[in-house]
Amino acid sequence: MKRITILGSTGSIGRSTLEVLSLHAGDFEVFALAARSSRQALLEQCLRFAPRYAVLEDAGAAQGLQRELAQQGSRTQVLVGAEAMPRVAADPEVDVVMAAIVGAAGLDSALAAARAGKRVLLANKESLVVAGELFMRAMREGGGELLPIDSEHSAILQSLPEQRERWAEDVREITLTASGGPFRRTEAAALEAMTPEQACAHPNWSMGRKISVDSATMMNKALEVIEAHYLFGMPASRIRVLIHPQSIVHSMVTYHDGSVVAQLGVPDMRTPIAYGLSWPRRMASGSSWLDLARIGRLDFEEPDAARFPGLGLAFAALDMAAGACAVLNAANEVAVQAFLDGKLRFTGIHRVNAATLEALGGSKARELPDLLDLDARARSHAAARVRALAG
Ligand SMILES: NC(=O)c1ccc[n+]([C@@H]2O[C@H](COP(=O)([O-])OP(=O)(O)OC[C@H]3O[C@@H](n4cnc5c(N)ncnc54)[C@H](OP(=O)(O)O)[C@@H]3O)[C@@H](O)[C@H]2O)c1
Repeated sequence: MKRITILGSTGSIGRSTLEVLSLHAGDFEVFALAARSSRQALLEQCLRFAPRYAVLEDAGAAQGLQRELAQQGSRTQVLVGAEAMPRVAADPEVDVVMAAIVGAAGLDSALAAARAGKRVLLANKESLVVAGELFMRAMREGGGELLPIDSEHSAILQSLPEQRERWAEDVREITLTASGGPFRRTEAAALEAMTPEQACAHPNWSMGRKISVDSATMMNKALEVIEAHYLFGMPASRIRVLIHPQSIVHSMVTYHDGSVVAQLGVPDMRTPIAYGLSWPRRMASGSSWLDLARIGRLDFEEPDAARFPGLGLAFAALDMAAGACAVLNAANEVAVQAFLDGKLRFTGIHRVNAATLEALGGSKARELPDLLDLDARARSHAAARVRALAG
């Protein structure tokens, strides 16, 4: 029986994780569930999965949750505040941590899980983008296992040799596939007027709003390039991005002998989640089966750098000072939120990101206090750019 903490349990990845776990009730026990403020969703999850702890960042919501749980006779204990997240991630009784909080807010708890030597199922790619070196060092020192949950990185891991020491020697390049998002065929001139609803209407995947907007700008793929660089120790020059609108080939590895090894499946996050939970074995995920005859064709094309300039920012940031990726991530979080709040046009997201990276991308920051300070400076720079573009 493995004990699991799910950080971000009320989100898209968190809910999918609980669905997979419900297929394997005898093998996993839910230790803690954590979210920001979704009290009702967390209440329902607590009544169904009976975790030892439920954590909410929002104090008012946490109070209400504790009251409702007590009324229902639940023994789940409610913890409050951001500082409780790393605590339930690092608890000695926990074996596995699903890090599925969205944004840099997930860094602290993911790092705590890494340092405590847990099996870390990393959906929160922002942890690696903000603090890639630091996070990978924490994983090594903690002695745990890092299993990526992004379908692309899970696919790469599944396509790489089992022995890590062969990765640098045998692999020529890795290719991350990208669906191209909802605006793959949208004319450049029309992008400016795209609304949050249009940006969040992803053709293949059902996801949270932030990552959906990132998919529409292709900033999601930019963040994934940075994530792949740290996860697999791959230089940016050996990471490619290819548009694959059907989202069936989840990514691939090209070897020096000309072989290309890929992982395929229907687009369903329960597959990489199940892989992370069961690695190195396999277990049922609840996903449907891939029927290639029905799909009929698989298409591939180069990304259009003119319409999706965000992708280039990842390669630029990896070329800049340590800290540039944190700057890019912070700017993007501010810009996406402003877009979702109706304060910034869709094309403004790239303007804010590019301007903030240009202004602060030369900043050197390696340790956590410096990275957090840089993150804060980048957020305030980006917010000022948002105001300037709105005015
Ligand atoms: N969705 C996908 O298919 C997918 C695929 C690959 C990778 N990812 C990555 O997985 C992560 C989660 O994505 P998602 O789509 O599941 O996001 P989501 O649906 O927006 O859910 C976000 C979760 O994080 C919680 N949260 C947000 N801010 C928090 C904070 N400050 N403290 C504690 N909890 C906080 C939310 O709680 P509330 O409900 O209370 O707000 C919610 O549980 C992201 O890093 C994303 O890039 C997602």
